[in-house]
Amino acid sequence: MFGLLKQKAPWWGLFCAFLFLSPLTTAAVPDKAAIATAHPLATEAGHQILKLGGNAFDAAVAVSAVLAVVEPYSSGIGGGGFWLLHRASDGFETMVDGRERAPLAAHRDLYLDKEGEVIPGLSINGPLAAGIPGEPAALAHISEHYGRLPFKDVLAPAIRIAREGFPVESHYVRMATWRLKALRASESANSIFLHKGEVPAEGYLIRQPELAETLQRMADAGADGFYRGEFAERIVDAVKLAGGIWSLEDLASYRVIERMPIRGNFMGLKITSASPPSSGGIALITMLNILQGFNLPKVEEPQRTHLIVEAMRRAYRDRADYLGDPDFVDIPVDALTHPWYAAGLARDIQMERASQSVGNQNHEEGRDTTHFSILDREGNRVAATLSINYPFGSGFVVPGTGVLLNDEMDDFSASPGVPNVYGLVGAEANAIAGGKRMLSSMSPTFVEDEQQVAVLGTPGGSRIITMVLLGILEMAEGKGPTDWVKRPRFHHQYLPDQIQYETDAFDESMRKQLEKMGHQLKPLEHDYGNMQAVYWNKKTGKVDAASDPRGLGQAKIE
Ligand code: DON
Repeated sequence: MFGLLKQKAPWWGLFCAFLFLSPLTTAAVPDKAAIATAHPLATEAGHQILKLGGNAFDAAVAVSAVLAVVEPYSSGIGGGGFWLLHRASDGFETMVDGRERAPLAAHRDLYLDKEGEVIPGLSINGPLAAGIPGEPAALAHISEHYGRLPFKDVLAPAIRIAREGFPVESHYVRMATWRLKALRASESANSIFLHKGEVPAEGYLIRQPELAETLQRMADAGADGFYRGEFAERIVDAVKLAGGIWSLEDLASYRVIERMPIRGNFMGLKITSASPPSSGGIALITMLNILQGFNLPKVEEPQRTHLIVEAMRRAYRDRADYLGDPDFVDIPVDALTHPWYAAGLARDIQMERASQSVGNQNHEEGRDTTHFSILDREGNRVAATLSINYPFGSGFVVPGTGVLLNDEMDDFSASPGVPNVYGLVGAEANAIAGGKRMLSSMSPTFVEDEQQVAVLGTPGGSRIITMVLLGILEMAEGKGPTDWVKRPRFHHQYLPDQIQYETDAFDESMRKQLEKMGHQLKPLEHDYGNMQAVYWNKKTGKVDAASDPRGLGQAKIE
């Protein structure tokens, strides 16, 4: 017997080597858990929840709630977001849509004057700019349906930090300075986020005892603690008093919706991303489909950048024409994400010449919203992008509640062809209507094949989708998460017809060559984005994570 084995040893060795290398033997579970978020306190809270026996979904609720406290300029329970979930036990995937809805009294001309012109600022500042929040409902929903720990346990870190306070950092100072006027306009916002009416210095402690109470109410009573009863009355009264149009019915009828994510393929990688009312997944797949047709890895610069830009241009044109709330408009999702459709879009791309976008406009830039990525030791994952839209949202805090309201209404198209704060134009599909969800660019995404899994996303307004695209292209080249998050970025969104870029993205020769092709170049004064990524090599079981060096976030493997 032994002789026989000995004789067969070379084959046996080969067989073992095959098993080791084969995808069949990919490690079933990651060797560690990984969390990347935009704030160290949120990353810590996520790991703490995992240590208490929670899964990635519990951690996601805890992280969302802590970010709502420590990044008041980015997201919060007065806002909404999309949580993309993957459950390891059965491979189930869903997108929890906790996007804000327009109040039922909203209508398509809400922000227009008598002449039909958009009134500047109305969809950005104060409670008339606020959609009905989805985050409280989404957190309760995720905890109840996917989590393992009691809701009150996962909210505990956020409640503690809201009570004890968190120190102001440099980004806070920048954002509060930018939104000073809006914050001063709301007495409650003024008293919570400013110090004697001025932007507080770094290190100053922001305490939010009323927000702590509101979170505690949710911990005790679930989503009803926010959307119904006395608390809802208090919100509605305050909003109306300050010029808003919310009703009790708006709050009571808010529902989280679970939606099928958008899927596509790129060079053997499976992409899973946000579905409408986000434009992210569809635009991402359109761009990847176009680029796949050109066999991008084989294309040299500057044609490579040129092709990526042309793919961006076309996907954003479609975004404006076709995308909106799927419960209000018919979106041809299958067609838009089909490789043949992309082939049609790619037909008029020339290798040496920029295409032309039709129309013209400029826009201001937004810099907030937040993303986090989580992988637990069971292989469950969450990619979530959450927002109150502009820094500090509408600037309006509901007195006595600590709840800072979003200004997500600006993501609607206030008037056809008139750009929003991100310069995005829209048409009928994204027109305002009562109860409708406004179109988003938020793109929480999974990228995987049999050997590896990535979880990624970023804030950045209209540039979110192209940042995720650039991250995926890095991954397709075999690079790791640190490279995806730090990669110098460029962006095109059809209109304005220009390549916006971080100054380290192109050297002089590249700039000249792109200009020669007919591209308009717009260097940006600031870097942008705040990508948070997690990576799991299934073959080795090793995990990796990275937080964008542009932000103050933390990626931690434990
Ligand atoms: O949902 C959206 O697309 C926007 N409200 C996101 C805003 C954003 O990322 C701001 N950051 N610069």
